[in-house]
Amino acid sequence: MSNGIVTTARTKNWKMSKSDHYLVKIEPAGGSFTSLPGRSLLHSGLAAGRSLPYGCANGSCGECRARVIAGSTQRLQHADYPLTETEKINGVCLLCSTAAGSDLTIEVVEANSPDNIPLQQLKAKLARVEQLQDVSIMEFKFTRGGALRFLPGQDALLDLPDGTRSQWPIASCPCNASLLELHVPSQAAECDARNTAAGSLLSLHGRDRLSVTAPTGSFTLKSGSEAGLPTHHIFITEGLGFARAQGMLEHLFNLENEDRATLLWLATPQCGHYRHNLCRSWDDAYDNFSYLAVPENSDFSANGEISASEGISVLREHLNAIDNTEAEHIKRQFYLIDTSDAVALEIQKLGIGQDRINRIEHATNQTAG
Ligand code: FES
Repeated sequence: MSNGIVTTARTKNWKMSKSDHYLVKIEPAGGSFTSLPGRSLLHSGLAAGRSLPYGCANGSCGECRARVIAGSTQRLQHADYPLTETEKINGVCLLCSTAAGSDLTIEVVEANSPDNIPLQQLKAKLARVEQLQDVSIMEFKFTRGGALRFLPGQDALLDLPDGTRSQWPIASCPCNASLLELHVPSQAAECDARNTAAGSLLSLHGRDRLSVTAPTGSFTLKSGSEAGLPTHHIFITEGLGFARAQGMLEHLFNLENEDRATLLWLATPQCGHYRHNLCRSWDDAYDNFSYLAVPENSDFSANGEISASEGISVLREHLNAIDNTEAEHIKRQFYLIDTSDAVALEIQKLGIGQDRINRIEHATNQTAG
């Protein structure tokens, strides 16, 4: 969207300083986020990882309506969407056009499942490409101030000018809805033979427009506890599967809660740990995050293979080490992203219940005929 939604500054344990902010409580889901004076409730909520409803983000569609139960608000901008007299009397506001004037309690229905988010169709253009080893980090901007609403872990379907259609995991965070980031193997056949549509994407120019249909897929974060207690999210991924994990982790870093996360990234010889420095910087920045790179320093054996048991043993040691410090009530959710069956088998050997294991294989990319 033109008034781009961006992430908040990150702090050591992924919680913001509460000074100079208003506290906004959410009903009926519970929880809260902090909001700066003069910043829209929508932007603040999304930056804090809340799945607030919205459409245009500029006051014209009415999708972001919420009811203020307690506290005062400030109008930020003119909104074309006409609230009814009844809505005004009942304290309904537009989250995209309203800021907090005090601590607030609002009533709003959040999207906590992929079923709650409509399929959207947007136009986008290539904004930036960064080459990291054999992977191209491609950033697309939605045209006409468009914004994509999705949950971390979901996919996007792309229709390119040359007639090809392909599906990709979204690597960006829902908090930055004006941007779509994809991780594309530069040498498709060598890095990841499944991504047959990579060549079409990589030949795009800045002037090209592509159609994005999203979000698709139902893989997303799970709460480890019905009671809303903290969750330890454990991501296990191989090669390019990191793309999906990246968006999910960035979303977690924005949440103002007590969750923690671990990333076990099993590199492939072709792609390596192509965002190793980013992961290490997360590990340094957040007390509640641990990064396990296997093999360390991308030091592959002679045949270039990592055995599943070797990778999972690193995770097992890590979990054993934190068992003493992790509170009893913290539940674990495991996310297996693009991992082999051998890795899934090793995870099962840890005695983890099936309800704690969430597995997804690579997005099916195809070229339209
Ligand atoms: S998102 Fe459209 S009016 Fe707020």
